[in-house]
Amino acid sequence: MKGIILSLARRRKSIRRYKNKAFSVEKILYAIRAAIEAPSGANQQPWRFIIVDDPQIKIRIREICEKGEKEFYAKVSGELKEWLIKRGFTWKKPFLTEAPYLIVVLTNMTKLYAVESTWLSIGYLLLALEEEGLASLTYTPPNPKDVMTLLGVPSNFELQAIIPVGLPAEDKQKESRKGLHEVVYHNVWGSKMNIASTTSP
Ligand SMILES: Cc1cc2nc3c(=O)[nH]c(=O)nc-3n(C[C@H](O)[C@H](O)[C@H](O)COP(=O)(O)O)c2cc1C
Repeated sequence: MKGIILSLARRRKSIRRYKNKAFSVEKILYAIRAAIEAPSGANQQPWRFIIVDDPQIKIRIREICEKGEKEFYAKVSGELKEWLIKRGFTWKKPFLTEAPYLIVVLTNMTKLYAVESTWLSIGYLLLALEEEGLASLTYTPPNPKDVMTLLGVPSNFELQAIIPVGLPAEDKQKESRKGLHEVVYHNVWGSKMNIASTTSP
């Protein structure tokens, strides 16, 4: 079965428009089962996941995030602004109400390597969702604390991402990635590896 992880990773891309088509929460739970198998600092498992499917709560989350986004877009400048404009991104975040489920990922900041461990679990989660044919996005709102207040999250936690999950309603190319030869060195910094002769595919 070699190649499954690589093919899922290559297929997976961020989706920002979703069909409002319901599916079983079991699919979300399957992906979270994978996420909680991730390694964590001293096995402290700092992650928590809130599955949101209540339309009213999704509307409130969207309102809160779009308020933060408007402030962010009014201030943003330089390279990031160019990047956002090129992709047509605005303060509008329709995926927060369109997707049947939002997974709000939180981390307990009193735990060792809490943030690193939680993002590892997010990586597992994304690939498991992809395996199930579900699209996703790691949305990081500019005002996470306001969303935490809405959801009643204790203050020792921090919100890492809100992940809309559903069937895609947009067709887009996956963004390109650097090649192995650009990011891999051999033994010491800057020393090229002869990748073609040692790696497949
Ligand atoms: C830590 C992190 C934060 C991100 N935050 C956002 C975000 O707030 N909004 C958004 O639209 N995409 C966000 N993304 C998605 C990236 O823009 C996207 O993964 C990247 O452009 C590569 O595109 P792809 O996922 O389609 O391959 C985030 C991704 C990561 C890993």
